[in-house]
Amino acid sequence: MGNLLRRYWTPACLSMELEADGSPLEVRLLGEDLVAFRDTSGKAALFDRNCPASWCSVFYGRNEDCGLRCAYHGWKFDVTGQCVDMPSDRGRSPERIKIPSYPVYESGGIVWTYMARRSRSRRFGTSAPRISLRIRSWRSKVFWDCNWIAVARGKRRHRPYLTPASVLQRDGRR
Ligand code: FES
Repeated sequence: MGNLLRRYWTPACLSMELEADGSPLEVRLLGEDLVAFRDTSGKAALFDRNCPASWCSVFYGRNEDCGLRCAYHGWKFDVTGQCVDMPSDRGRSPERIKIPSYPVYESGGIVWTYMARRSRSRRFGTSAPRISLRIRSWRSKVFWDCNWIAVARGKRRHRPYLTPASVLQRDGRR
């Protein structure tokens, strides 16, 4: 099931949660601990939480000058996960170091990501909902301490019975 879900663009966080050069955001998706941030130029990124140097969390890093700099030895990664600076390891070449990252795409105020390791339908729009900001819409983020499938199944079952009644009650028509 996890591999199937990975073949769909998945909401990672709200666009408004990421500020250019702002604090990184912890994201847990499909059982993976990740870190999201927005670089100086406004590009969003989603990384593995663990730095390849010594496995410290890059969540505690500094988001500065188009990259996230790990707080421990100072390795710095751009939005693609490529290491671009290793101040504590001057003899090594940063080009050979990359932190695992996922592609992101922003649409409708949401940062979407695609977590399949290998797939041909990676282009955004092939499996992602298209959301237009011109229509009246809202975005929210909630945390439910339960299995994703339980929520999806519960919503499907409740919709035909509860939603119309609750809407009628709210509007005073019942
Ligand atoms: S653990 Fe990240 S640079 Fe050392």
